[in-house]
Amino acid sequence: MHIPSRRPDRPRSTARSARALLVAATLFATGGLAMPQVAAAAEAPAGASAERGDDIVGGLAEMLADATITLGGNDYPNPLRLQDGNAVDGPESWENVRREELLADFREHVYGESLPLPTEQTFDVSTSDTGDVVRKTVTIGVTGPEGSGSFDLRLFVPQGDGPPRGTSLMIDHRGSVGDDPGQSSGYAPVSTITGAGYAFAVIDANDLAPDDSGSYRDGVINLFHPSGRDLPDDAGRAISAWAWGASRAMDYLETDPDIDPTKVGVIGHSRSGKASLWAGAQDTRFAAVITNNSGSTGAKLARRGDGGVGAETVARINSSFPHWFPQTYREYNDNESALPVDQHELMGLVAPRRLVVGSATDDSNADPQGEFLAYVGAARVYELYGLGDTGLGSDDWRPETDRAHRGPAMSYHLRSGGHGLTGADWDVYLDGDLFSRAAAPAGL
Ligand code: GCU
Repeated sequence: MHIPSRRPDRPRSTARSARALLVAATLFATGGLAMPQVAAAAEAPAGASAERGDDIVGGLAEMLADATITLGGNDYPNPLRLQDGNAVDGPESWENVRREELLADFREHVYGESLPLPTEQTFDVSTSDTGDVVRKTVTIGVTGPEGSGSFDLRLFVPQGDGPPRGTSLMIDHRGSVGDDPGQSSGYAPVSTITGAGYAFAVIDANDLAPDDSGSYRDGVINLFHPSGRDLPDDAGRAISAWAWGASRAMDYLETDPDIDPTKVGVIGHSRSGKASLWAGAQDTRFAAVITNNSGSTGAKLARRGDGGVGAETVARINSSFPHWFPQTYREYNDNESALPVDQHELMGLVAPRRLVVGSATDDSNADPQGEFLAYVGAARVYELYGLGDTGLGSDDWRPETDRAHRGPAMSYHLRSGGHGLTGADWDVYLDGDLFSRAAAPAGL
């Protein structure tokens, strides 16, 4: 297992910075250092200057943030530390500054630059009423600099007294969901979902970028890149294109009168769970983000390496799936501690919306403990909104299995068994109200 120390390129921790300030303030208080911004203190009564110095130290130290936080006994980047070393002091600096910094880092170093918005987008809807469920097939036409193309969104809307309780938008890399509203499988139990009162929407990831290293550009992705030329090193590959496709599907869902766009959750399993997390981190229109057994470059902390359980590392994922991530991510092969970010910060980008993480006990390739610790780390961001309750009771591995641990905006479960999206996972996802925006506590 590869355990990092501290981020090499970032300033030192608060302790050292606070010490430096203390020295400076002491010098000031004893007349040894001129600090023009506090020159007025010279006119204060005797004894007040030392006090004032203490105040300054306290105030400035409070603004600085530790470079790292501890998760499971090891150091990880502090999501609440701005690049200038100051601390995020509330939702405003999180949303306006830190969020943008993190998104830029994840684009540059992990997922690559996203495709731009299409210059033109069309929705061609065909509807069939099958009784309890209305099925729509929406052909989403998009135009980019290299031409026009399309991909399909399938939508199943239950017919009841009111609108659906919410909509689950699935990124499906298996291309396994057909037109039949009665179909059901553990992976995509369409009839169970609609039976529970939710609409189900699904896109086939392969339409955006086929899941194959030799042909991944034979999809919508190439409307934005000249064919016959290599992609730029920092351009997103398949996972980024899939996430982008989920946002284009959301563009449509916002226009559909049968859908409440404030209650759409994006869900993906495994490789698509990496894409659902990246989609939900970027696109705040998703009220909820469900990432199931997403492992490396999904819910798992990268710095844990193989997690001591033979889990997939950055080097392994880049070599086994060279079409998923940009070239820039390869700089972190066997070098995870140099990453400026880690995956708990990606989850934090979902805040204050609902984050749902599903793991499985025997899914060692995904490092369930690494997924758990990232979930725990993301709570630091939710705390800014008063929503930091993870529902876990303890931050220590390992939590009770086969139980939905749920706070007001964060949800986690550890299913017994191996890698998969199963009926038991869906039971958790359909129970309660996971597809709605979490309500911030009064006063925030
Ligand atoms: C492989 C891969 C994982 C991925 C999984 C899947 O096991 O190593 O990163 O999540 O496939 O998509 O099922």
